[in-house]
Amino acid sequence: MISSKIVGGLVGNPVIPGDKSISHRSIIIPSISNGNCEINNILKSEDVLHTLNAFKNMGVNIEEFENKILINGKGLNSLKKPKKEIYLGNSGTSARLLAGLLSSQNFKSVLTGDASLSKRPMKRISDPLSKMNAIINTKNGCLPMYIEGQNLISTNIEISIPSAQIKSGVILAALNTSGITKIIENNITRDHTEIMLEDFQADITFEKEGNKKIIKINGKKELTAKDINVPSDLSSSAFFIVGALINKNSNLILKNININPSRNGILIALNKMGANIKFNNTRKVNNEDVCDIEVQSSELKGCELDEDISKLMIDEYPIISIAAAFANSPSIFRGLSELRVKESDRLSLIQHNLKNCGVSCEVQDDDLYIYPSKEYNVVNPNIKTDFDHRIAMAFAIMGTRIGSLIIEDSLSINTSFPTFIKEFNGIGGNLS
Ligand code: S3P
Repeated sequence: MISSKIVGGLVGNPVIPGDKSISHRSIIIPSISNGNCEINNILKSEDVLHTLNAFKNMGVNIEEFENKILINGKGLNSLKKPKKEIYLGNSGTSARLLAGLLSSQNFKSVLTGDASLSKRPMKRISDPLSKMNAIINTKNGCLPMYIEGQNLISTNIEISIPSAQIKSGVILAALNTSGITKIIENNITRDHTEIMLEDFQADITFEKEGNKKIIKINGKKELTAKDINVPSDLSSSAFFIVGALINKNSNLILKNININPSRNGILIALNKMGANIKFNNTRKVNNEDVCDIEVQSSELKGCELDEDISKLMIDEYPIISIAAAFANSPSIFRGLSELRVKESDRLSLIQHNLKNCGVSCEVQDDDLYIYPSKEYNVVNPNIKTDFDHRIAMAFAIMGTRIGSLIIEDSLSINTSFPTFIKEFNGIGGNLS
């Protein structure tokens, strides 16, 4: 994909697809509930379709339509042993959540993925599950995961790595385990699993103690299906928001965006940078916070973000780094070790590609420093993405200001935002 400078600003109402995290959960949770569930605005991207196919392969009755799906769930123990390995492509969320769910089912299964997912750490999910007696063998801590599903034991599990995927995997294991599983989450992370399970009448409670969250699940209680309207994805919106902020004469309205406070760090950070963003029509949909976002071109200042906020915006560092490159003072983003184990080593790729774009920046330990300037001379227009969708989309936005960037392996965009190019060009973008 080539991203070229734009003439004029970004103007209009682009359609942002359904939230990726909520879409995965909108397949997993109805599949183990009782009753019919209609799911609207579900994201039909590669990652989510891998989750969908996994449940079809486990015998769940799923009907697909243009922008909705229907799932007829038959309860916690209704899944059938899959006939073959479950291939999850690039999707870390599918791998971690399914590891938890399948470890408490009464059959064996194998999870596999593409080259990038096969390098990502899986012991972070198999270790806490093994405390519940789960039997999961990994290949040197990575995929394939060989899961010998069986009855697990309820216990107390402390989660020290800030990860909603690990927390959600353990919650899904606990749902089909007798007794009370207590999860101590040492860092608060996105809570879509807890919100949806509460809506589906799971026996789940949670309380917050400072930065910690205690979740208790009383297992073996059947879930009751409910219809779901998936709100649109803030992480996908962020590319358009930053695109509008850094290009003069821009004005965008993004409708129906999820602004769940456990993952709205990008909005807090952009506010600190002086971004002109308005939140209209704020409301609750399936207990998730939703609103319409209006964003206009803004004079941005640099900002310092500490490690705490990283848990609320872990997917947004590629794009906030682009915003920082066009601010009028330096930025420091601290505590980004988790960025190294995403779809790529994002911390290295942000630094590598910013430097090639002529932006002065450095990484010290796990902190990223960006020193913006008024003009950039591109050193090398080839943007290395290692097949990471968020690196590809972030540098597509960079191209709107500094001219022709060649984004390598940009097909990865299909993992989370298949309509990105169409929507972006529809508001004045220049991607080919
Ligand atoms: C996700 C959690 C985050 C995020 C990922 C989606 C989820 O990962 O990076 O894109 O849906 O639970 P971690 O929980 O591993 O940080």
